[in-house]
Amino acid sequence: MATIVITSGPTRQYLDPVRYLTNSSSGQMGSCLAEAALELGHRVTIVSGPVNIDYPAAAELIRVTTTREMLDATQQCFERADGLIGAAAPCDYMPINVSNQKLSKTGNGLQLSLLETPDIVATLGASKRPGQWVVGFALETEDVRFRAIVKMTKKSCDMIISNSAEAMNSQDNSVEIILHGGRLLEQAQGSKLHVSRRILYQIQSHLITT
Ligand code: C5P
Repeated sequence: MATIVITSGPTRQYLDPVRYLTNSSSGQMGSCLAEAALELGHRVTIVSGPVNIDYPAAAELIRVTTTREMLDATQQCFERADGLIGAAAPCDYMPINVSNQKLSKTGNGLQLSLLETPDIVATLGASKRPGQWVVGFALETEDVRFRAIVKMTKKSCDMIISNSAEAMNSQDNSVEIILHGGRLLEQAQGSKLHVSRRILYQIQSHLITT
């Protein structure tokens, strides 16, 4: 039995108390991965941004808002875990200035200055202990497999799941499961639960050693 941390859903980066940057990630893929991992008897912690879905009750759930909070919580959980699956779609940018008061319209438009947020998968990939593993996701629209393999190397992942843009906010997904070194293990498509079961099967076969 392994202890697996799964990041899931979007994050939010606030501009002021009521406005924020985000994306349309639903958290469904993270939820299905958690279900598939629990079915195999693994212990699961989900670190999730704001979503409207119910996660499996048997998983430990940590709710966060920003990418920085997701990184901090995931790092803490990963210390006592065997592996990480990065299924979240964290915001890649955060406003440099966050206003304490609601920004008022001035009639002159508004220019935003943004900073890159930390990359959770890359940070944990770079700091993993021997025996720990990290699985990332890649969503590309061209040179899909090549770019996924480059991303896997750049983020020190042991496996990468290359998925299609149609996966966002959909019931289904179509993926390629690629092992470090670039070996294509499997192409899987269908419901997110079916695809998650295939991903967990490959993780179990190639990354979980105990
Ligand atoms: O670079 P890109 O966003 O395409 O990489 C996707 C992978 O990186 C996913 O596994 C996603 O969860 C992870 N990621 C992350 N932290 C970020 C951005 C992406 O962990 N700030």
